[in-house]
Amino acid sequence: MRILSIETSCDETALALVDAKGTEAPSFKVHANLVSSQIPIHRPFGGVVPHLAKREHLKNLPLLLEELARHDVKTTKRLVAPEDYIVAMMKRVDAVAVTVGPGLEPALWTGINAAQDLARRFGKPLIGANHLEGHLYSFLLAAPTRTTKKKTIINLPAIGLIISGGHTMLLEMSSLTSWKKIGETRDDAVGEAFDKVARMLSLPYPGGPEIEQAAKQGNPAAIAFPRPMLDQQNFDFSFSGLKTAVLYHIKDLETHANPDTPFILDEAVRNDIAASFQTAVIETIIAKTMRAARQYHARSIIIGGGVAANKTLRSIFEKACEQEKLIFITPARDAITDNAAMIATAAYMNTLTHTTRPIVAQSNLNL
Ligand code: KG4
Ligand code: ZN
Repeated sequence: MRILSIETSCDETALALVDAKGTEAPSFKVHANLVSSQIPIHRPFGGVVPHLAKREHLKNLPLLLEELARHDVKTTKRLVAPEDYIVAMMKRVDAVAVTVGPGLEPALWTGINAAQDLARRFGKPLIGANHLEGHLYSFLLAAPTRTTKKKTIINLPAIGLIISGGHTMLLEMSSLTSWKKIGETRDDAVGEAFDKVARMLSLPYPGGPEIEQAAKQGNPAAIAFPRPMLDQQNFDFSFSGLKTAVLYHIKDLETHANPDTPFILDEAVRNDIAASFQTAVIETIIAKTMRAARQYHARSIIIGGGVAANKTLRSIFEKACEQEKLIFITPARDAITDNAAMIATAAYMNTLTHTTRPIVAQSNLNL
């Protein structure tokens, strides 16, 4: 099944062309995974501005569609108009998939309208996909991996961990298509906490990669920030207290600074805060995930979502999994942050379970 997928839930306009096959062991071949990032547009505002996101998606969608078609159609006959390439590409597409939620409503609608238009014009079925399932299944795009050519082995049951800008949740997965949510954040998502702490440290949006960079030069044991909810036996998270602890720490430094000169965080101090904050987050997430793995007798841990791009988190996770003889599964690097190939995986997995969704923007769609 060849899927053309569209993702516009936040600040990335993304289109992909993916072949999917198999039922017991689904596998995917990514022909193209195009992402047009709007980060430079939103950066001056310190976060995503919905109406600007919508404007940019509307501008980028036709450009990406043409790029995707040109990439796909290799022909000796010179096609003249962009439309000719699109027609040729669409002949071989079996279904169009689009993110219907969660996300920013005006942004979601741009993708939905574009997908509806394509599906209608070329008589293709349209599949509405859940962005969170996209993050959950994005590891399937890594099989076989580029380096080992080996298929990703997944032993079940597994614990799924989604850590993104909008969500933080733990799932107990008895199979790839049946799971139960066992915990989630009670306030800020982990990516959101990275972004907010970055802003406190005058680092640009998105904050996750910036904090990771700053943390490399800092001492992770410099400040004993709290490890939220670790003493509680549930699988929920809370990051707003940790974020406030960082804020109070900075305010405290400001109070004790020389009142005659404007307060500026010294770079070394900033790096220590970044490293200490990152460590508190990573320790909390890993401790809760490992505890869930023990309780549910999991044999694998699957992580997904933008924060999974954090190399420090991945390497500590990998070691913890090695120690507990668990298989650690992460998406390929280019499939971690928002992209459309992951939406094709979610759409395909939904066809296996005959799950359908209304094709309307659902900003609060959950798992
Ligand atoms: O999954 P994603 O691309 O979009 C959402 O669905 O939210 O995740 C974006 C989030 C942002 O909060 C960003 O700061 C965070 O992922 N992020 C990171 C890193 N790269 C992206 N957080 C920590 N370390 C990173 N290297
Ligand atoms: Zn996402």
